[in-house]
Amino acid sequence: MSKVIISPSILSSDFANLGRDIHEIEKAGADWVHIDVMDGHFVPNLTIGVPVVKSIRKVTHLPLDVHLMIENPMKYIKPFAQAGADIITFHYEAVERNEVIEIAQYIKDFDIKAGLAIKPNTNPEEILEYVGYFDMILIMTVEPGFGGQEFISKCAQKLPLIREFAEGDLILQVDGGINRETARVCTKLGANSLVAGSYIFNAENISDAISSLR
Ligand code: DX5
Ligand code: ZN
Repeated sequence: MSKVIISPSILSSDFANLGRDIHEIEKAGADWVHIDVMDGHFVPNLTIGVPVVKSIRKVTHLPLDVHLMIENPMKYIKPFAQAGADIITFHYEAVERNEVIEIAQYIKDFDIKAGLAIKPNTNPEEILEYVGYFDMILIMTVEPGFGGQEFISKCAQKLPLIREFAEGDLILQVDGGINRETARVCTKLGANSLVAGSYIFNAENISDAISSLR
């Protein structure tokens, strides 16, 4: 399989020095910037909104990988796309089944990539019928909401089913508890995009941390 896409999650960066931290991951070889958007409803935490994405867009050319952990994602797709998102991923659990395809299409109409995420307790069989409409599927390997949690290994077992079912070049991403060891487990099972927050930003050498994931 082609190269693994590393998407550092800025949730673990120093928000008072966000521009500096983004330049640092850029220099260290990151492929994308993962931006965790939380609304205090779909998940208990509150994080980043549209104005911050707009500011990030001005300081980097890396693709912005926006992970929406929010209710009613449809309402915010246009503002995030206009703020400069390159990939917008929403949660299957946050929408009605009959909206999934329509939302994928709506995201793609902005000429950006569409992603669908599932939480640890969601059965991957439920989303098989939607895989073909997306550029990326995100398998959460922790309960969404916070950085620094422990990897749930049973979630990684969902990867082969999606990989087997996918046609062509689907991006299969994992997010949560990714480090040198768990990255290995996930890429062996079919993941080709890894989100890592605390492992990268708490590392003594960010460049070494990123290379160790490849
Ligand atoms: C959790 C977020 C993650 C988080 C990952 O809800 O979606 O992107 O930042 O953090 P780590 O890598 O520390 O588990
Ligand atoms: Zn995330």
